[in-house]
Amino acid sequence: MPAFSSPAPGVQSANFRFRCIGCGDLSDSASQDFRCAHCGDLLEITYPQWKKAKPNAETLKAAWSERRLSQSPVDLSGVWRFRDLLPAPDTTADEAHIITLREGNTPLYELPQCARSADVSRLFAKHQGMNPTGSFKDCGMTVAATFARRAGFRWVACASTGNTSASMAAYAARGGMRSLVLVPEGKISWSKLSQALDYGAVTCQLRTDFDGCLRLLQELVRRAPVHQLNSINPFRLEGQKTLALELLEQLDWQPPDHIIVPGGNLGNSSAIGKAFVEMRELGLISRLPRLSVIQAEGANALVRTLRETGGQRLVSVQAETRATAIRIGNPASWKKAAHVLEATGGACEQVSEIEIAQAKAEIGAEGIGCEPASAVTLAGLKKLVKQKFVQPDESVVLVLTGNLLKDPDFTIEFHRGELFKGSADEEASAGLDPLRRAPIVLDATLDAVIRTLEQAEKS
Ligand code: F0G
Repeated sequence: MPAFSSPAPGVQSANFRFRCIGCGDLSDSASQDFRCAHCGDLLEITYPQWKKAKPNAETLKAAWSERRLSQSPVDLSGVWRFRDLLPAPDTTADEAHIITLREGNTPLYELPQCARSADVSRLFAKHQGMNPTGSFKDCGMTVAATFARRAGFRWVACASTGNTSASMAAYAARGGMRSLVLVPEGKISWSKLSQALDYGAVTCQLRTDFDGCLRLLQELVRRAPVHQLNSINPFRLEGQKTLALELLEQLDWQPPDHIIVPGGNLGNSSAIGKAFVEMRELGLISRLPRLSVIQAEGANALVRTLRETGGQRLVSVQAETRATAIRIGNPASWKKAAHVLEATGGACEQVSEIEIAQAKAEIGAEGIGCEPASAVTLAGLKKLVKQKFVQPDESVVLVLTGNLLKDPDFTIEFHRGELFKGSADEEASAGLDPLRRAPIVLDATLDAVIRTLEQAEKS
């Protein structure tokens, strides 16, 4: 056990600086809560040298493409392949210290059936659930964990609705660090919890919600030399930016009209938006896609913040949704996300539990699948089309943030017709019956199986 009373080593900058999103103060190091020493707002990472010597867009594209042929661990990572736009280690020796699980490199799938159901002509899914631990968190974690180890930390910690903890535990283990996980008791899926356990984290199920876990973590990092790997940590967001770079490379650098992202603590939408703004600044793309954020109705803090205060003041909510990954009422990065919506001209919408369940089953029926929080994107798209914010001839990319296997309980309850039992939604959910595929228990006879096949053929 390290001496927790000793002062934590500060993170020193190399090719980047920290900038406060509130007062704009620039600094070379950050305190453990990653908040501005002057005004207390969140920090972001900025690259002052781009002003003096702007990287050439065509040279970057060629280098990134060439690195796909390389077998070195940094090039095999779908995050570090784009290291020119990251707080990349500044010497070759440092590159050997990168903690990577070959994250990124995620597929872009076309979704023709979902496109028809949403009434758009071209619909794609960027599937971040195909990352090593099954969620988009890995892309941020490789960067944040690498810098945590570089700063000399032995312990890393996070508050989580499940995916961050799974990812952090894996990267800490790979990097020889210990990890501490704070999760809300009974409110995260068993598959996510089991990942943290297997990767060796000290896992605490706290009798509170995610927001309570995050509050406690903020206090902990001021008292103990543990490095927080929540998305308040701006290194996380730099890694998560690479989703946008990889996506644009897959689209031959032609931006889609819309990109739709689920919103929880609002780190991911902030990261993706930052990437697009930087890409336009560097001439990698000539126009910004509209980035829209979708939340569950029961965890709609950003929706309310924008509608009720015009984005001036956070409206916190008591979060409740079966999409447990985004069961967050007090999102830390709301200001960053509000800024991204403004910069890209995106929308912010909310969707019901039934709409989430339906969208998830539709994505599953395309052979793709995702976890409930990811499905808010398709549900939200349908609303944005009805509102004519998205036109039928526009191209749309949904960011699927987590793998189908992350929350099997939700999926099984849905198909058995048990998801909404006893809730106010029960009656309305009857309309979802055509999507349900409950498992069928039969005697082990050929006749029974053939009869079932014939019945299925008729349905
Ligand atoms: N989708 C999934 C699958 C998630 O796990 C999360 C966040 C989000 C969307 C929302 O992303 O917070 O950047 O707006 N999960 C966190 C966790 C909070 O602890 O795993 P965000």
